Amino acid sequence: AAAKSLSRGAFILFEGVDRCGKTTQASKLVESLNQSGVASELWRYPDRTTTIGKMIDDYLQCKADSDDASMHLLFAANRWEKKKMMEEKLRAGVTLVVDRYGYSGVAFTSAKKLPGLDQQWCKHSETGLVKPDCLMYMEISEDAAKKRGGFGEERYETTEMQKNVREVFADLREDWWNVVDADRTIEEVQKDVQTIAKDAVERCKRGKELEHFE
Ligand code: TMP
Repeated sequence: AAAKSLSRGAFILFEGVDRCGKTTQASKLVESLNQSGVASELWRYPDRTTTIGKMIDDYLQCKADSDDASMHLLFAANRWEKKKMMEEKLRAGVTLVVDRYGYSGVAFTSAKKLPGLDQQWCKHSETGLVKPDCLMYMEISEDAAKKRGGFGEERYETTEMQKNVREVFADLREDWWNVVDADRTIEEVQKDVQTIAKDAVERCKRGKELEHFE
């Protein structure tokens, strides 16, 4: 109960399909938070710098192939290996702005539509991980996403996969998510993002309890 009133940093998560602008918005947010005196860091998943992250990177770049279930668990392990540090940072008052997390994990693996790897199976590996205090779902229309340029070279950058991912995200959506209209200009989106983030930072500063996925 004592921990309840402790001030801490906020876990602000950006999720969305490819080319929705989440990476741009996440880094702009960190910049503006730090400028306004809110200590914050930009994190991203997969974190390709760890040993597990390097395996994921090889897989995404198609330098290595692997079993789909194993890969799902490696993506999750990449979050688990940084769980303690994440909690320490948040408790130390640092706000973490995170580019993708377990929702991408569930969306991408279940988008493969493989027997046995349904949404429920995909969610199991997330149980116990830190739940974000604020989720910005960057919603972009298929047309607007297409206008932002073609696919890259990585494994999941295909029309079919992106379409399925979009569908799973729509299915995963919960009431507490902040759905941000990402079809607009960078500046317009940024303004909304800052307002939403400021509120989350305030709530955590006042001692909102740290939650975990059940
Ligand atoms: P990135 O482009 O944001 O670096 O993400 C790399 C790819 O990894 C992207 O296609 C989404 C995918 N991904 C998963 O399949 N599972 C996960 O758990 C995460 C975080 C990302």
